[in-house]
Amino acid sequence: MSDRSIVKTGMTLGMIAAVCTSLVAATYQLTKDRIAANEKALLEQSLQPALTGIFYDSGVSESRLVLQPPHGLPGNDPAIIYRVFAEGEPAAALFVVTARDGFAGPIRIVLGVEASGSVTGVRILQHRETPGLGDKIVSARSDWVYQFDGRSMGDPQLLGWALKGDGGEFDQLTGASITPRAVIKAIRDTLVYFDANRDAIFQAAATEAEE
Ligand SMILES: Cc1cc2nc3c(=O)[nH]c(=O)nc-3n(C[C@H](O)[C@H](O)[C@H](O)COP(=O)(O)O)c2cc1C
Repeated sequence: MSDRSIVKTGMTLGMIAAVCTSLVAATYQLTKDRIAANEKALLEQSLQPALTGIFYDSGVSESRLVLQPPHGLPGNDPAIIYRVFAEGEPAAALFVVTARDGFAGPIRIVLGVEASGSVTGVRILQHRETPGLGDKIVSARSDWVYQFDGRSMGDPQLLGWALKGDGGEFDQLTGASITPRAVIKAIRDTLVYFDANRDAIFQAAATEAEE
């Protein structure tokens, strides 16, 4: 191949590469917003059960507060708090926290707390507990997780936040006590945190979203 044809081939390949790069960049720009909107919708859908019965007129995901460990909430990974408001007044806070002492691994939980301190709802976002045993913490598998609705720190008092078999007020799961113990402890510790930090939680500036 002559020097001229090598240069020509090189230039052609360079141009093709440049066109491809521009196409990828344009596609990325076009789909980025749609992906972000889908992710937001999915997130808000998964948080919705923890907001049952709450009136609010603010965005949910916009009010995200990310706390890096050590943060005093359950888990040693980042904890997330979404705050919702009604006419500018605090309505509820949603905590996404991790119970680290599950039977088979960490259990990611979303817990809604009304501004008054009572639980609006608890849902399990992620877990690896055993099907038929520990996985009954999931609302689709049993009603177990609904027993926390309306309860608060004080109802019951701290020591009552345990399984009945451990002297507390909450129902067991047949054949599995490690999993429910972990979830109850995470709820209890989140409520203790809420009571101690209520004003700061609602006043803190939202964490900037990463690009
Ligand atoms: C294969 C297998 C899977 C199990 N999965 C769970 C589970 O997901 N959650 C749980 O709490 N216990 C699970 N257990 C049972 C625990 O080992 C334990 O016996 C149970 O939690 C009862 O604890 P207790 O003796 O304190 O009541 C599992 C046991 C076996 C053998």
